[in-house]
Amino acid sequence: MVLKIVVFISGMLLISSCTQGEISTVKKDDPNVEVDGRLLYINQCASCHGPKGNLGNSGSKDLSKSKLNEAQVLKIIKKGKGTMPPFEYLLTTDKEREAVVQFVMSLRKEEN
Ligand code: HEC
Repeated sequence: MVLKIVVFISGMLLISSCTQGEISTVKKDDPNVEVDGRLLYINQCASCHGPKGNLGNSGSKDLSKSKLNEAQVLKIIKKGKGTMPPFEYLLTTDKEREAVVQFVMSLRKEEN
């Protein structure tokens, strides 16, 4: 009996050690997970829009002068627009997308 338990536990350890190293791209909307909208923006968006939103690479719009509301920004983030690709598969949770929307809105308040 004890042997069975030991085998079972070592089996579980083996399984968990195999999955630990994987990078999960699909995250749950865990309320305890902090998301940094600025960091997500820098990683996903700044290549075209620039860190301040006004770079204009690949014909992208100046986000510091954009007049879109939050719902419209969210839709563009999810579905893309023109040559801008959709981001719903990279920013997979509502929380991540909302954080990026908030950062995009904050670009308008800064004095450039
Ligand atoms: C490959 C380059 C590229 C990347 C990466 C990119 N965009 Fe764009 N974005 C564009 C282009 C091009 C447009 C203009 C689309 C059009 O109007 O035809 C645009 C337009 C927008 C608009 C609309 C602005 C307006 O006032 O019309 C928003 C908001 C926006 N992008 C946000 C983002 C966010 C947030 C990210 C990151 C999640 C992002 N973009 C990543 C190229 C990009």
